[in-house]
Amino acid sequence: MKIILGVSGGIAAYKAAELARLLMQQGHEVQAVMTDAAREFVQPLTFSALTGRKTLTNMFEVEHAIGHISVAQESDVLVIAPATADLMAKLAHGLAGDFLSTIYLAFTGPVVLAPAMNVNMWNHPATQANLETLRRRGHHIVEPESGYLACGMTGPGRLANPETIAAAVARAGAKRTDLEGETVLITAGPTQEPLDPVRYISNRSSGKMGYALAEAAVSRGARVILISGPVSIPAPRGVELVPVQTAVEMRDKVFENLEPAGIVIKAAAVADFHLSKVPDQKVKKTAARITLEFDPTPDILAELGRQKGDRLLIGFAAETQNLEREARRKLETKNCDMIVGNLVGGDLGFGSEDNEVALALRTGEVISLPRASKREIADRIFDEALKLRFALQAAHGR
Ligand code: C5P
Repeated sequence: MKIILGVSGGIAAYKAAELARLLMQQGHEVQAVMTDAAREFVQPLTFSALTGRKTLTNMFEVEHAIGHISVAQESDVLVIAPATADLMAKLAHGLAGDFLSTIYLAFTGPVVLAPAMNVNMWNHPATQANLETLRRRGHHIVEPESGYLACGMTGPGRLANPETIAAAVARAGAKRTDLEGETVLITAGPTQEPLDPVRYISNRSSGKMGYALAEAAVSRGARVILISGPVSIPAPRGVELVPVQTAVEMRDKVFENLEPAGIVIKAAAVADFHLSKVPDQKVKKTAARITLEFDPTPDILAELGRQKGDRLLIGFAAETQNLEREARRKLETKNCDMIVGNLVGGDLGFGSEDNEVALALRTGEVISLPRASKREIADRIFDEALKLRFALQAAHGR
């Protein structure tokens, strides 16, 4: 692999030399990039000698003006070790004032960050918020270890050991291409059903699970059509985003885009009811009680179940109780191949970064996945979906 090793300015910078040596030993090509602050701790020559390549330090030193773009384009993985609090803040906010942060913005592949800093800096809400942003962006974070820190304090903040970081780089760089040639249609987020021109009813769905699925599918080589209700998170790079507002709009867009899709995942929290007749004008406030009449919305998943053909159809069941039973029931009634059941109501589910789910499969099997990030759960769902398709095809003698 071609690896960019970014080194930012912390006392742990000297340990990055060991990481460079290890990556070289594993047969990778390593291009070291140092920030000015890193150079206060270690000489660029150390990395140049270990990697056999001139260490890049200054944006204005490379042979051609767009050096950062070509370095970014030619590489498979970007690992930054140590990643200081300052550097993570820059990455989180897209500041690109030096060579390393510019490469970061120009780089489209997997990013591994190994933070190291003083324990109070690590625990600071600003650092934790930046970390969360970077995690949500899909970057691999190699957590710092707890122990004695150079500043004399004890706690989390010590750079993870080079072997752990090298293993994370190998995992991040292992390209999965098992969805290449596949079109995956995913619905995500809530729907909003108008009550009048200025009001609506909706639900607490954040869209994070559906977006994590979209990101996982893109990174495994799929073409992804993401039909999304209103959410406050950005669409993952590389997906075709189709924004919708209501259940009826979502239904129409799903069927418009269904043809090429081999896998359909309905992660959206579609409203179950909408107003039978939406007033043209804003409803005036009065002292009187008002009664609204709702009709059921189209059940998109059930409709898909009736005309799915060979497609793999995956639905979600967000439940507050009897998870497995409900998941199995929906599997049957909506003619799905898999129902991803998740308990909502505690600290998991809507809005949270993590999830814990049970997969009910058409084969009768139920697979429980332990608590993990929504991105990791997304990959497990695709792993199981591909296995399931293989099993179903084998059962049909195809
Ligand atoms: O029956 P319930 O709404 O709990 O089922 C949830 C599953 O059905 C989800 O996959 C959701 O996206 C889908 N659904 C739908 N259309 C609706 C309601 C739910 O596709 N109107």
